[in-house]
Amino acid sequence: MLAFLARSMARPSSLVKPVALRKLPGRYLAHQEGLPALPVPPLQQTLDRYLLALQPIISEEELSHTKQLVEEFRKPGGVGERLQKSLERRARKHENWLSEWWLKTAYLEYRLPVVVHSSPGVVLPKQDFLDRQGQLRFAAKLIEGVLDFKTMIDNETLPVEYLGGKPLCMNQYYQILASCRIPGPKRDSVVNYAKGKKPSTHITVVHNFQFFELDVYSSDGSPLTTDQIFIQLEKIWNTSLQTNKEPIGILTTNHRNSWAKAYNNLIKDKTNKESVRSIEKSIFTVCLDAPMPRVSDDIYKSRVAAQMLHGGGSRWNSGNRWFDKTLQFIIAEDGSCGLVYEHAPSEGPPLIALVDHVVEYTKKPEMVRSPMVPLPMPKKLRFNITPEIKNDIEKAKQNLNIMVQDLDVKVLVFHHFGKNFPKSEKISPDAFIQIALQLAYHRMYGQVCATYESASLRMFRLGRTDTIRSASIDSTAFVATVDDSGKQDQEKAELLRRATQAHRAYTDLAISGKAIDRHLLGLKLQAIEDLVSMPELFMDTAFAVAMHFNLSTSQVPAKTDCVMCFGPVVPDGYGVCYNPMAEHINFAISAFNSCAETNAAQLAHYLEKALLDMRLLLQSSPRSKL
Ligand code: COA
Repeated sequence: MLAFLARSMARPSSLVKPVALRKLPGRYLAHQEGLPALPVPPLQQTLDRYLLALQPIISEEELSHTKQLVEEFRKPGGVGERLQKSLERRARKHENWLSEWWLKTAYLEYRLPVVVHSSPGVVLPKQDFLDRQGQLRFAAKLIEGVLDFKTMIDNETLPVEYLGGKPLCMNQYYQILASCRIPGPKRDSVVNYAKGKKPSTHITVVHNFQFFELDVYSSDGSPLTTDQIFIQLEKIWNTSLQTNKEPIGILTTNHRNSWAKAYNNLIKDKTNKESVRSIEKSIFTVCLDAPMPRVSDDIYKSRVAAQMLHGGGSRWNSGNRWFDKTLQFIIAEDGSCGLVYEHAPSEGPPLIALVDHVVEYTKKPEMVRSPMVPLPMPKKLRFNITPEIKNDIEKAKQNLNIMVQDLDVKVLVFHHFGKNFPKSEKISPDAFIQIALQLAYHRMYGQVCATYESASLRMFRLGRTDTIRSASIDSTAFVATVDDSGKQDQEKAELLRRATQAHRAYTDLAISGKAIDRHLLGLKLQAIEDLVSMPELFMDTAFAVAMHFNLSTSQVPAKTDCVMCFGPVVPDGYGVCYNPMAEHINFAISAFNSCAETNAAQLAHYLEKALLDMRLLLQSSPRSKL
């Protein structure tokens, strides 16, 4: 026992600590008001940078055509200037000129299923329980950990985050709990029940495709303890031993228009409506999954990533979800666990901050046993299934199973080095990884593609993301030279360093609101709003190529040894997410099986080789003054 205590005390806890023990009303708003507004970048600057970004990905002929269109667009008194003025007017009137547009365009009006196409998953480290008791005990602890984090959100005591020394917008933290997406015929919406007169006090638990409302606060307002939650979870388990015949949650995996229709049909029934509302209002969802078939260690993590993204199909755990729910933790009996989240309300980093807190919380030794006050039975959420609803479920199952078959995911744990190596070479680790991705892609396809990396805009009020275009003139110079046996290593190493510096410079531009992608989107949406005919610049093939991101990538760093994963954004592309740890890097790579040209495992192979070759190159060629 003493040894155990000593061990638990010695471990430095990385639990997020509140900035104060009591409520700090008004602190959040005061912080938000102090943040700068997102600027509208100068028109000419964006157009110049647009042409530079096109250079590596289109032919000279296409480029010269696009240059003419840009000249036309940027003329004094021309359409570009008119749109720019309208955009600047919009920026003066809105808290953030982009955020509402972005929410609609990127999420709420996007019609493909949220599963695979929009919702990211997170693979957490495998837990060492192997049975139901362990599963429920871990789930109880995890729920208590989320409630602990929620207290900081509710009390406005969550420490403010910083990037490059600047404070960040904290709004997304207020959107991830007690919220849910609602399907609509043309556009979805998001509801949030975190505030108001009656804030949510329950979570949703799903087991064997059956949904339960579990109140997680006592009558005095204090959160239930792990022991209490455990007992409630046991009750749920014992009353849902049989798998529900109709996996109602599968409906949420469908194309948004089909789901919107099915939704309206579903909630015509009063009982169904009440059950759906309970799920939508709940603080978050916990999915107690059935174990998946055992697989070898080398593909285990890839299998879990797929499990987090789609649940394995209608025969497995996909019916054990409500995919519109913003936050769903998934805990399977075999120790695999993670989460899936609906993307509209938030980016990955706030969710990962919550995950880091919760994972650390689950490691805390349990010292106090709480007295057992009898608690009411969690409420089973009932659904009346009409033949029409049954039919909708069947159609959703078919579509989902096709998507499941189509997704190719590979989790790569690159264990040769982590972010400490590029740092020791005075190189940004993120830039190093992005250039390795460029090299891997070039070696596979013999060409460069439009590449998206998300950059945080949270330095600005209500900021979400812009795009770092990782395929640059400098990255192309490097990837086109590195395998040339006629060139010296010293020259190649210098090109590599230059490419990483250019990437870092683009990153700095993007996080300070000066990148081109959101600005171009704003000009285009402004043209639609002002009823100006669509400028040719946006109808150009080059524009379509620039927006066809064969590589869609994101760094989502965590203290936990986990990795986020998401699907590709184009049929012939890859989704790549990574978590650079000090001594290793976790990657999750996805592609579609229906595309003959893409293969996640192959890209992983080339990526590993690219990272190793780049290290070798730097080690064999000492730095010179660039
Ligand atoms: N020499 C030595 N060290 C360096 C260095 C250099 N030239 N450049 C950077 N570093 C260090 C940094 O100080 C940092 O140190 P830390 O580990 O102590 O924090 C570390 O290397 C990482 O820096 P870098 O790799 O450059 O990346 P970053 O942390 O600045 O992140 C982005 C870059 C683009 C990922 C980040 O700015 C961002 O925008 N993140 C948001 C992503 C997002 O929202 N995704 C949404 C997904 S849903």
